[in-house]
Amino acid sequence: MRIVLGVSAGIAAYKAVHLLRLMREAGHQVDVIPTPASEKFVGRATWEAISGRPVTTSVFSGVDEVRHVRLGQEADLVVVAPATADLLARARAGMADDLLTTTLLASEAPTLLVPAMHTEMWNSAATTENVEVLRTRGIEVMEPAVGRLTGKDTGPGRLPEPEEIYARVTELLHEIDGAAGHGTPEASASAPDQALDQGPAAAPTPGRLRGRTVVITAGGTREPLDPVRYLGNRSSGKQGMALAETAAAAGAKVHLIAGTMDVRPPAQLPNITVEHIETAAQLQAAVQRAAPAADMLIMAAAVADFRPAAYAAQKIKKTEDGENPVITLERTPDILAETVQHRRSAGTGPAVIVGFAAETGSAEADPLELARAKLLRKGCDLLVLNQVGETLVFGRDETEIHILTPPRLTVEGSAVVTLRGTKHEAAEAIIAAAAAYVV
Ligand code: CTP
Repeated sequence: MRIVLGVSAGIAAYKAVHLLRLMREAGHQVDVIPTPASEKFVGRATWEAISGRPVTTSVFSGVDEVRHVRLGQEADLVVVAPATADLLARARAGMADDLLTTTLLASEAPTLLVPAMHTEMWNSAATTENVEVLRTRGIEVMEPAVGRLTGKDTGPGRLPEPEEIYARVTELLHEIDGAAGHGTPEASASAPDQALDQGPAAAPTPGRLRGRTVVITAGGTREPLDPVRYLGNRSSGKQGMALAETAAAAGAKVHLIAGTMDVRPPAQLPNITVEHIETAAQLQAAVQRAAPAADMLIMAAAVADFRPAAYAAQKIKKTEDGENPVITLERTPDILAETVQHRRSAGTGPAVIVGFAAETGSAEADPLELARAKLLRKGCDLLVLNQVGETLVFGRDETEIHILTPPRLTVEGSAVVTLRGTKHEAAEAIIAAAAAYVV
């Protein structure tokens, strides 16, 4: 499809290079329109080389072909990333002082603006009002990510990672494609959530994962100690279930590897097969069988890190002498890390592997620092952080997650997307972020 990619003058313009690459790799025709000032950050030659199309910034170039109107009229989608405070103000005012703003005015295509600026500028009354007005006109303004900004400051204002922007672009293109009558019957499958009484339906990303296989582990494990006792955890399985439903709604064939769960696994739902497991060892075997054929592996299960080193074949009894039994524990295999390792050594495996981190934080480190370290240690492509405590997350329908990506183009470290909402909304964000890896 035809995309216009506008780039305004922010330091995050370099991230738009990767976004352009993702669009091109998916086969879209992309015309890049930088603002003149943005060329201080990324030069025209880079845009031309990667887009394979001529690039101009001024309304006075290509006048013969009425370029300032034509590009906007022909586009299926217009994306501006980064959209600076200045660009938002000019777009809101309807100014037409360079090729990008004239294109925004001339285009009737769906438009996605992806802001990037310092937190104070984002929170300012002027920007807030500009964003509100643009949104009432039907223009989508993405929420900026929270994280490290150009200087030492952190807060909302960071450009979301290219993968995240691209995931939203893909969803919009699917919607546009569907609205143009190219959709398929599966694309309008009703949200499975309703059948499960799981609260408001999450908006599926129709067709995005059609033909793909998604393996999701969910729930907790039980490590037997004797015939009647086990070591377990408080995972409800709700997040894993929401992920399975969301991936199925997006057209994927889902293999749900279910441990102990409070909720009914969706055995009857189309596109989801459920395999029940109990122990970490059974989960390991199930993942080893399923992962090689999967496009996406999501390790949402709360796997026991330790299990009783010995299983007592008879029930452990209280003794006359009042001695307390001593239970020796041993480590379970790290299934996530070993799957990542196997993909590296075998050169095949899921295109994207998503890990989860349940962190309470400690006196020395906050949960985000622990999650960043875990992401690097495990080597997965995305890590979803849940902050947990006795009353937080486990068994609840509402959740707060952070999706971390490993440092790649950035020097600042992992990028973070924060989302507060239902577990279905969290599932939507996770599936959208992971889908960007599945081309
Ligand atoms: N996981 C796994 N195998 C294990 C333990 C965990 O595959 N034996 C996976 C989980 O499914 C999750 C991720 O690893 O996706 C993180 O789990 P967590 O228990 O939070 O991490 P740990 O490595 O156990 O770290 P910590 O000891 O700091 O909790």
